[in-house]
Amino acid sequence: MDFHSMETSRIQRLYDACESIFLPGKEGLPAVKQIRWLQDLLDDMEPEDVGIDGSGTREGSPGDDASTPKDQDGLILGHAVKQITYIHIHECDDFSIGVFCFPAGAKLPLHDHPHMVVLSKLLYGSVKVKSYDWVTAPKSRTKKSGLAKVVMDNRVLQAPCKASVLFPATGGNIHSFTALTPCAILDVLAPPYSEELERPSTYFSEITIPNLPGFALLEERGLPDDLRVACAPYLGPELSLDTEFC
Ligand SMILES: [Fe+2]
Repeated sequence: MDFHSMETSRIQRLYDACESIFLPGKEGLPAVKQIRWLQDLLDDMEPEDVGIDGSGTREGSPGDDASTPKDQDGLILGHAVKQITYIHIHECDDFSIGVFCFPAGAKLPLHDHPHMVVLSKLLYGSVKVKSYDWVTAPKSRTKKSGLAKVVMDNRVLQAPCKASVLFPATGGNIHSFTALTPCAILDVLAPPYSEELERPSTYFSEITIPNLPGFALLEERGLPDDLRVACAPYLGPELSLDTEFC
């Protein structure tokens, strides 16, 4: 076996770090140094580390509605996906890891991340981000609506760039993405979405307020009719899981 095949993959390092930070039943937010550790690991990651070709220069089978475009090496051709595509890498009770691939022009509408810490790394391409935090968090059992403060006002991110982080009440917990070019975002969610545990994904419409720049009223809305998210298998390095907890 050559030396390289014995190296721990970057996705394995990320998983191992998540597994040691987001412990079962752990209350409260991770320490700053733990968040930095995860950001550093994410900042080292390339599309190939999660089984994606992000170069846009390779060719392969184009795929169709039922299959994902792949190149000869088995990498997903990120630039050839025709709709927003989620690649599920891992989920347990405490965290999830996955990638959203976007074709140019696709939009993931405004949605929240209740009680979560989310780390996001743009792997390739360019994306426009709008994000908000609640001024006063709405009650979760009612239809969510309320005043929110703008955190990112259509900020353009261009890979390579640093991993970002959002928290339950700060950092832009409610956000939307518009792909300016084909792009992909690697997400770590801790804990994951869960309807049963009152962490549903909620979508919002935004109403600007005359004479109050930097704020908007957000109102819960149903799943947007035009939102289609396909799923694709994870084709990157195999993960060795800690089966005691996951
Ligand atoms: Fe999100």
